[in-house]
Amino acid sequence: MLKGHTAIVTGGSRGIGAAIAVKLASMGADIAVVYAGNENLAQDVCDKCISEYGVNAKAYKCNVAEYDSVKETVAAIKNDLGNVGILINNAGITRDGLIAMMKEPDFDAVIDTNLKGAFNFIRHTSSLFIRGKYGRIVNISSVSGMIGNPGQANYSASKAGVIGLTKAVARELAPKGITCNAVAPGFIGTDMTREITEGNEAIVSAIPLGRVGTPEDVANAVAFLVTADYITGEIIRVDGGMAI
Ligand code: NAI
Repeated sequence: MLKGHTAIVTGGSRGIGAAIAVKLASMGADIAVVYAGNENLAQDVCDKCISEYGVNAKAYKCNVAEYDSVKETVAAIKNDLGNVGILINNAGITRDGLIAMMKEPDFDAVIDTNLKGAFNFIRHTSSLFIRGKYGRIVNISSVSGMIGNPGQANYSASKAGVIGLTKAVARELAPKGITCNAVAPGFIGTDMTREITEGNEAIVSAIPLGRVGTPEDVANAVAFLVTADYITGEIIRVDGGMAI
């Protein structure tokens, strides 16, 4: 279904990003796993994509917050795998804290990774999409960016920013046939949330569907948006109904 296209998945070495990489590989896309630090994990994801689905897959170490590193990484991916047509901006961090005590570096780090990281990759791939006459961008936002979350002013602001970025890019690139959408997960069981969600009955009881989500729940929504030709600027919640 996605054969002939290369998908870049940032933060693809674990959690939601790893599930997205494997899902897109199962649909035939070649995969560029962009990771921050753990080369072994990133390589494991690539190996799985190659052995189970027979696609090309390669890992690239890159800090998404660094404009020039992203530029170099996109050029390397184009050179190695070619036909860059799909971008999943998934890399993200939290540095939670109450607003009255939040440290400036914690605000900056979250904005730089979650929002500027998405900008950096869109900035450096969009000309490839335009030239290739094909592009599917999916940004991973959060319900925290839609309804706000106490203790996450930095994170909520970054994820709300991602929604604005998604809508503006969707309008701007639509005339070129390129779509840009976002997925807003609720509570998904990954390293990011394990400490908060495990055994926390209050969280589960706030989720109408009665369970924490899985990385695959998010990957399925991403796969849908990548294959949807007539949807752009849309934000799909994957939250078990938490933010209804
Ligand atoms: P995770 O912490 O398991 O994985 C995050 C990934 O991003 C890791 O691979 C990490 O290496 C990478 N990353 C972080 N900073 C980076 C940087 N500067 N450069 C390159 N890569 C970097 O987190 P998880 O849960 O898989 O989250 C993935 C995305 O989903 C994030 O954007 C997160 O904000 C979002 N999300 C997660 C939710 C959850 O409940 N787990 C809920 C809502 C949104």
